[in-house]
Amino acid sequence: LPIGKYYIPCTRPDFGSVVEQELEFSGRDIVSLLDFSRDGIEKVFSVSDSLEYVVKNRTRLELLKDKVMAALFYEASTRTRLSFECAMLRLGGAVTGFADARVSRAGDRFRERLADTARVVENYADVVVIRHHENGAPAEFARHANVPVISGGDGTNEHPTQGLLDLYTVKKELGEIDGKDILISSDMKNERAVHSLLFGLAKFDDVTVYLLAPDDLKLSRHVRESISRQGLRCTDVSDLNQVIGKVDVVYSDTIIQPTFNETRRATPDRFILNASKLEKAKDNMIVLHPLPRLDELSDDVDMSPHAKFFEQTKYGVITRMALLCLIFGRSP
Ligand code: CP
Repeated sequence: LPIGKYYIPCTRPDFGSVVEQELEFSGRDIVSLLDFSRDGIEKVFSVSDSLEYVVKNRTRLELLKDKVMAALFYEASTRTRLSFECAMLRLGGAVTGFADARVSRAGDRFRERLADTARVVENYADVVVIRHHENGAPAEFARHANVPVISGGDGTNEHPTQGLLDLYTVKKELGEIDGKDILISSDMKNERAVHSLLFGLAKFDDVTVYLLAPDDLKLSRHVRESISRQGLRCTDVSDLNQVIGKVDVVYSDTIIQPTFNETRRATPDRFILNASKLEKAKDNMIVLHPLPRLDELSDDVDMSPHAKFFEQTKYGVITRMALLCLIFGRSP
């Protein structure tokens, strides 16, 4: 397999440690997009391109027919778990795991240690995908497991494979990422997918991001400093209408309001994207959302040619197939 640059995992959940080395993808953990170079991201894109036909034709390869993937989801998921499992199945591999930690020993009175689970599951599976509510849990699991570990999202820290599929969606729908203007409307403080997306965008040239968040949910200083150091231009805005006419991408994301449990529909208007606001958008502007959504992304956007958030979920299967191939050093 032709191998690109690979960066060994950042093992600190506070974004503080970036250890870069020229290494193979093969056998490595994926816990942060801070660990990826632009070459590494583009390697994932090129392998994804070569696998797209598998998903499009709803077919199945035998590339990983000797491999087993364990999906350990300590936190709820629809897209990440199912797309990873479908990715593995489409590559001919097998899957095991749990979708709810309460049916495992981690979730009953034993509260089994993560390190013990890692030492056990490495004897069952050849790769582990883990989602966990604690920041840094995937990196901690990786420290104890002798098989590659992929984060499916940890706490408020990162969601690296969501970041990769978001970047791939921009590349596929707009042709390139360099030079793009992107509005991100989100809880910037707690949204792990946004952190990974920003770390990924920072690897590209001449990108400007407009950040729209409530005052108490703005991007943490350490994330902002990290991406600014890498040359990503960031400008805060206070209303989606301010920049919708000039951006190439609107990345809408949920902002959970304090009244959410009672109302489920409480997002202030300045964060809501609907069909009438799209009238000001450039013709080729695309709307992305990691999903699930609440009321910040109106149903009337779905029929718009700008809407690419369901295509985004398809790209999620493809990029996750590419990552599995790269980790196992198998060429499609
Ligand atoms: N985008 C995303 O991570 O969705 P799930 O929580 O359903 O996996």
